Amino acid sequence: MLFRGWGESVDRRWPDLATVVDHVGVGHLVVTRHALVKQVLTDPVTFRPDNALDAVTPMPVAALRVLAGHRFRLPPTLANNSGASHPEIRGIVADALHPTRVAAQQPWLTALVRDRVARLTAELDAGAAVDLYAELAADLPLLVLARLVELPDAPVGAVKDFARAALELFWAPLDAERQLALATEVGRFHTVLRGFAATGGGLAARLRAAGHSPDLVVGALFFLLVAGQETTSQFLTLLLHRLTGEPEVRAGLRAGEVAVGDVVEEGLRLEPPIVTWRRVAAVDTTLGGTTVPAGTSIVAWLARAGRDPEVVAAPTDFRPGQPGSRRHLAFGAGAHRCVGAQLARMEAAVVVAEAAPLLDGVTVVRPPWCPDNLTFRMPDAFVIRRA
Ligand code: HEM
Repeated sequence: MLFRGWGESVDRRWPDLATVVDHVGVGHLVVTRHALVKQVLTDPVTFRPDNALDAVTPMPVAALRVLAGHRFRLPPTLANNSGASHPEIRGIVADALHPTRVAAQQPWLTALVRDRVARLTAELDAGAAVDLYAELAADLPLLVLARLVELPDAPVGAVKDFARAALELFWAPLDAERQLALATEVGRFHTVLRGFAATGGGLAARLRAAGHSPDLVVGALFFLLVAGQETTSQFLTLLLHRLTGEPEVRAGLRAGEVAVGDVVEEGLRLEPPIVTWRRVAAVDTTLGGTTVPAGTSIVAWLARAGRDPEVVAAPTDFRPGQPGSRRHLAFGAGAHRCVGAQLARMEAAVVVAEAAPLLDGVTVVRPPWCPDNLTFRMPDAFVIRRA
């Protein structure tokens, strides 16, 4: 179950901690309770983030050679950095994503989404089927990110393909042939990033000016391009799909009785795009009364933590504003808590406010399909049509 069926298994009965052996025979300690997940995430001394970006399917020599040919390296920068450099690098990224800079993007994004929604409404009115992933959600976060931190001048499609290839290469169960194809794609874009890291402006220039090595600048850009846009477009798609089946919530939004922000939080709680996040035990320790030897891979089940009955009274119901709704751990917790949370929330609020009316009176032609992946849901499409 480690890679398959997180969606179905998330509401089954689970012990607080379960040892699960993965497809290559590695055991992971899966943490299912909100309090324990929070304990793990907020104690980076006992539970270090060093394994956050480790490939769950070890790479064969052929794939490693391809990556090495592109001088691919992922030094500890952000999510996997337990070293002394983390606070400073995080600070530079956080400045670029400062709430005032994020808020300044809202009018531009609203106009763009409004325009798209008008076009999609016309298409639906004409009887066509529309894919809300491809035609609305997929590129929005990347377009906003590009305005906040300068990004390489690569076509949107190329960045999306690279990001999805990276999520698959590092977090999916794979065979050697697929790993080679993915390594080729990821490696190729890494070369583009390396060039940009050396000369680009914006965030890359600020990291260089702070004295960081080219490898570190590439590593930070790599993570941002993956974490800073793909996660949010996944979330937008999953949330819109969920809202299609929540007519009362949409009626509440229409009547102004349900707050958009509450819908976003309940969406993050029930439909997080990142279902798990890893840590590694740095020392022999205990967790929830269970002995945890040093070196144990800990899988913090964020999706499950959001459905803990200790946190919300109606864990599986979509009830915006219910007590505890905002206590989800979709953005992690502690020193590595998501630095783009404010940005993701703003983007989701704009999309919910502008696009929820699109969902009235539609049927789902094709729900999002999510491939096997330890951490990311990666929906591929979401097609609707007027009923
Ligand atoms: C709905 C969208 C998003 C979700 C669910 C999400 C979730 C997460 C999670 C679970 C972590 C790990 C936290 C931990 O280790 O405790 C993380 C880290 C991070 N996220 Fe996000 N994220 C989202 C969007 C974004 C965006 C839009 C950006 C930036 C543009 C971003 C940038 C980062 C960065 C830089 C880190 C590493 C922080 C650090 O290690 O100090 N994320 N995110």
